[in-house]
This record gives sequence, structure tokens and C-alpha cells, in this order.
Amino acid sequence: MTVTVGLRPEQLVDPGLHATGDPHEVWRWMRAHAPVHHHEAGDLPAFWSLTRYTDIRSVYRDPGTFSSARGVLLRPVAMGEDPGGGTTLALTDPPRHKALRGLMADWFSTRAVRELEGYMRDAIRAVLARAVEQGTCDFVHDIAGRISLYVIGRILGVPPKDHEDLFRWTNEAFLAHTSLAAHHRFMAYFVDLMDQRLEHPTDDLVTSLVHGTIDGEPLTEEEILLNCENLVGATENGRLALAGGMLALLEHPGELRRLREDRSLLPGAGEEILRWTSSATHSMRTVTTPTVVRGQRIEAGERVVVWVPSGNRDEEIFDHADRFDIGRAPNRHIALAAGEHFCIGSTLARAEMRILLTEILDTVGRIELNGPVVRLRSIHVAGPESIPLSLAGR
Ligand code: HEM
Repeated sequence: MTVTVGLRPEQLVDPGLHATGDPHEVWRWMRAHAPVHHHEAGDLPAFWSLTRYTDIRSVYRDPGTFSSARGVLLRPVAMGEDPGGGTTLALTDPPRHKALRGLMADWFSTRAVRELEGYMRDAIRAVLARAVEQGTCDFVHDIAGRISLYVIGRILGVPPKDHEDLFRWTNEAFLAHTSLAAHHRFMAYFVDLMDQRLEHPTDDLVTSLVHGTIDGEPLTEEEILLNCENLVGATENGRLALAGGMLALLEHPGELRRLREDRSLLPGAGEEILRWTSSATHSMRTVTTPTVVRGQRIEAGERVVVWVPSGNRDEEIFDHADRFDIGRAPNRHIALAAGEHFCIGSTLARAEMRILLTEILDTVGRIELNGPVVRLRSIHVAGPESIPLSLAGR
């Protein structure tokens, strides 16, 4: 198979492509010419790339064949296996996965999110008011990042006085490209919080985890810690959806105007933002029994990587897939995955986005870019690292 000059599937593992290039060009080519593509081992292990919507969805919906227990993100061979394997929610297979998810699900249900709305609105108003007062901000750090962290902090049971610490430690870990689990103050803080909740149960997610059991057995301290870290880390996607959404609207002023003029478009705008920004760039699975995808046999033990943003631009599924259209219907995107591991934070992320956009439309009169947008150098998550804005109230 000849590849158009300049387009190579191997580029996908170069974080530089995602920061400064256009991975969609590569994915478009792969969907047409190499939808099941084998990548040789290098710094990363060997793996198969899937880029078509229906293949990605099938993988997500078959956790028996495509296991999450050996990691769901590509990582250098030299780093060894993911320490969360078989322990954190995202890295657990059925049947344990269902039981573990059951310990957390109530905190992310439609009802729980509805009860949180007042808190979210207040938090959003406070960060927006501060930005408007200053006249400039970095939307990613000052608005999207704070909102995401304050909300997960509240769910976990972190008191509001400590939310800024949680925010700072998380940013330090992101900036250093290390896992939150390697951040000593973050981990020490959660060990402390677990001890407190063991003695004095309250109404929060850490209490549910320290007092919860699976098959009659309590979770170990390590399991609880890694799951708290996983939940905080997962909000990076929430932050990127909020920030990527703002950027998409600023880059498509006609769509922003449409939204200002017709608020009934808000829910659809949220879905189109999720499809368009697709901040979770890939999910990895390990094959448990030999399987065949589009005629290609894949052996047990081999890794499969699904590229979610590619599925969300698949021209076989979406009309004018490369057009950002807040009125798009139907919009069956897979930005939040599908099946067993469907994003547990989906309702929360959607509510954060709806409330933030509403507050911006209600209270911000002028909002414009006032410097270059920097995109993340990552093959795991995609979106803006910083969006310098100038803004003024109504
Ligand atoms: C409020 C913010 C969020 C939280 C707390 C959160 C949390 C989580 C958790 C804990 C999981 C693992 C669920 C399981 O294995 O059963 C998950 C899965 C996932 N989430 Fe989210 N999430 C958030 C926002 C988002 C957003 C905005 C996106 C994408 C735009 C996203 C994309 C995904 C994807 C693709 C998966 C599946 C990963 C895999 O199985 O490989 N999440 N999320």
C-alpha cells in the first residue's frame, strides 16, 4: 500500500503531530486505505490501529475479547505495565468492573448531578466573575480547569478550603507529565482523607469507597487511592471538553451567534462539542482470544488502539463530518466511549458544559482570543493547553 507523501500512520504516535499538525489528515487517509493498521514495536509496544467508527464501537462493546486490565493507554515499554491494571475502574474487566463501578455510580447519576447543579453554578459564576473583573484570563487554567477540579473535589469529599491545593497539585503533575500517583502531597492528602472517613463516615465518594465491599471484601488502601487518583485525573477530559468547546465556538463565530440567538440549541451544541473536540484521543485494549477485524486476524495478547476522534469524523456515519454544526442531528458520537466502560462522568461533564455556556451567554458581553492558542503535546488527550482571552461583562 502506498501512502500519500507526508501522511504516515506512524506519525500518530508523535505528540508533535497532535500539538502542531493535523492528525485528522492521517486518520482520514487510514479510514480509507488502512482501517486496520499494524504498528511495529519501538519505544511503544506493537499495536493495531483502528480508525473506523463501527470497529471502534465494536471494540468498546466487547470487553470479553478486548480487555482493559493491562492498561487503556499506550505507554513506553520501558515504563512497564500500568500500575492501575486490574485495580482502577477504567482498568478492570467484568465481572469485577461492574461491582467496582457500582460503588461509585450513585455519585455520577442523573439525580446526583442534578443535586450538584446549584454548587456547580455558584462555582462557575465565581470563576467567571473573577476573569471578567481582571479583563483577561487563560480559559483552560483559570476557568475550565478550576471548575472541573472543584466539582470532583466536592464529590470526593475534599472540603472547599482545600480545592485550590488539589487544583495546584494536579496542575503540577500534568505539567511534569507524571501521574498524579507520583505526587506525594496529593497521595498523602488522600491517605489522610481516607483515614478520616474510615472513622467518621460522611456523605461523599471517599466514604463510599472506604466502607464499600466487593464479594464481602473491603477494597485495599491502594485500590481506593488509585481510584481517587483515577477520578481526579479523568477530569482532565472534562477540562478539555469545556476549553475545547469554548475554542470551537470562538473559531466558528457563526455557530456562537446561532447559540446566542436560540438557546434551545444548547444540548445539541454540547454533543457537537464532544464529537468535535474528542479529547480522549485513544483507548487501548489487549486481545484475550484470537479475533478478526475487517478480515485481519489479531492474536491473543496483541494490543488494539482505537482512535476516538477518527471514529467521530467517520464520513460513513456523519454527514459533513468535518463541519462543526451545533444543530447536528442525529449525533451518535463515541467521544465518551460505549458499552461497559462508557464514561461514568458523562452526565457530570454535560451538565458542567451546559451551565458554563449558559453563564457565559448570560454574563459575558465580549469574549475574544488575545494571544496564540497552545495545543497539548500528547497522544493520550487532545485539546488546548492554554487559551488566552480578553473578556468583558454585559
Ligand atoms: C467530569 C469529568 C469526567 C470524569 C470524572 C470522568 C471519569 C471517567 C471514568 C472514571 C472512566 C472509567 C469508567 C469505567 O471504566 O467504567 C471514564 C471513561 C471514559 N471517559 Fe470520562 N470522565 C469525565 C469526562 C470525560 C469527557 C469530557 C470525555 C470525552 C470527551 C471522557 C471520555 C471518556 C472515555 C473515552 C472513557 C473510556 C476510556 C476507556 O475505557 O478506555 N470523559 N471517565
